Amino acid sequence: MDRLSARAVDKLMRSAKRVMKNAHAPYSHFYVGAAILLTNGKVFSGCNVENASYGMTNCAERTAIFSAVAQLGPKIEIRAVAVANAQGVPCSPCGACRQVIYEFGPDATIYFQGAEGPKLAHITELLPEGFRLQ
Ligand code: THU
Repeated sequence: MDRLSARAVDKLMRSAKRVMKNAHAPYSHFYVGAAILLTNGKVFSGCNVENASYGMTNCAERTAIFSAVAQLGPKIEIRAVAVANAQGVPCSPCGACRQVIYEFGPDATIYFQGAEGPKLAHITELLPEGFRLQ
């Protein structure tokens, strides 16, 4: 598995924590930030954006990824994703976000808060047999 240096992980996590403060989470009060590192070295970040119609909520991870695609186009390749939340509780990307990460980062490493502390996992550990349209 591709591993970032401790310094690079720290930088990505700080970016996730910074953007977390912009979350629109008046329903769950669960503030999340995500930062993605692309293989070209660029970093994009996003927060969760909730809606009164709850199902319209967009997670932090997808906000970051969609922002990168909007800026750079669909050829982006995700190398790493960092996820932070304001409570510091365990929080790994939801199933929908795992599939979206896989689309643009089939070899991505995810850094998040696990049940026993900070954790890293390959996207295929989090999403075995992710869907691809051939
Ligand atoms: N959420 C994220 O943004 N990312 C995650 O990895 C887990 C959940 C958001 C969605 C919703 O706004 C709030 O957290 C509570 O589920």
